[in-house]
Amino acid sequence: MKTALKLTGAATLALMAAAGHAQTSAPIKVGLMLPYTGTYAALGNMIENGFRLYVQEQGGKLAGREIQYVKLDDESEPSKATDNVNKLIKRDNVDVLVGTVHSGVALAMAKAARDSNTLLIIPNAGADAITGPMCAPNVVRSSFSNWQPGYAMGIVAGQRGHKRAMTITWNYAAGAETVKGFTEGLEKGGGKVIKDLTLPFPNVEFQALLTEIAAQKPDAVYAFFAGGGAVKFVKDYAAAGLNRTIPLYGPGFLTDGTLEAQGAAAQGVLTTLHYADNLDTPRNNAFRKSFALTYKQNADVYAVQGYDAAQMLAVGLAAAKGDLAKRDAITAAMHKATIDSPRGKFTISPAGNPVQDMYLREAKGLNNEFKSIAVKALADPARGCRM
Ligand code: BEZ
Repeated sequence: MKTALKLTGAATLALMAAAGHAQTSAPIKVGLMLPYTGTYAALGNMIENGFRLYVQEQGGKLAGREIQYVKLDDESEPSKATDNVNKLIKRDNVDVLVGTVHSGVALAMAKAARDSNTLLIIPNAGADAITGPMCAPNVVRSSFSNWQPGYAMGIVAGQRGHKRAMTITWNYAAGAETVKGFTEGLEKGGGKVIKDLTLPFPNVEFQALLTEIAAQKPDAVYAFFAGGGAVKFVKDYAAAGLNRTIPLYGPGFLTDGTLEAQGAAAQGVLTTLHYADNLDTPRNNAFRKSFALTYKQNADVYAVQGYDAAQMLAVGLAAAKGDLAKRDAITAAMHKATIDSPRGKFTISPAGNPVQDMYLREAKGLNNEFKSIAVKALADPARGCRM
């Protein structure tokens, strides 16, 4: 026979209060879905380190709540992405998802986050659709859309008088979208792209494509590669002697976090991005010092994006006084925030993407040095976003 459990009104209230307290005092589970193996492994580690650094600077807590991490290696593998993200959402019951680097994986994460109404902060992947047709209040980015740095580089290439450019990239969303942005910017300045070259991700057999570039003799080449692939491409471009006759441009990922490995081959390469290593501001100097002291290595753009993902979460949680159930307060605060980033202050567009300055940088020594502002306060056009 079952024993009926009868509670007095006061006991019920006490239990409810205790449950409420548990909800706002238990650690917040952050699911870090990032690449820890493969060509983007270094990027995933820098993002995690940046995120942890900000939390550590706040004493290990955001809005009074401890942060607990659950890590998952997504291997930059879109075919495993839906299963992987569902492990974090359904098996591990994470409160917040942070990830990832690869646009194809991030598209699956954004769909799962929308379907389950899980808060998702994207610390890199630029897939335009996520802050375009797939936009949702619970999905925000601390990074960029693929269109943004591509468009900025196209504007700069046009200003530099280039009329016939070729592009080369991996054949997936990030490559296609950054090339689209570049083409749009270049065409505004009266130039055009004469040929787009691609190879499958994460292939690094560039030789046949470099031979084709040499044969076509464009005025300029725009390349998107990142991580290990960027190291190999920039070295191969120089080894083929192309850097002596055809200027190489790219979004900043081509030379970010890679300069030591690229050596002389990268020197002088011009790129556009929302960060430059030597931005001489108190915020950037303090961040770089703190990062170097903690991790014994220099920060890069990926570390900045991880750091800012934690800042965005902090802003949302502060507005909800640490109560994750107050989802609307969290997302509204994130969308209204001005983030005091090492890159400079930025705001979040209604579609959830940073509105930020795009810098022209030059690779010098081990730094991507600031040269000028290529485009001020650039907002992604958010084509197709209805919110
Ligand atoms: C992407 O897949 O969106 C991406 C990967 C590495 C660097 C930048 C973008």
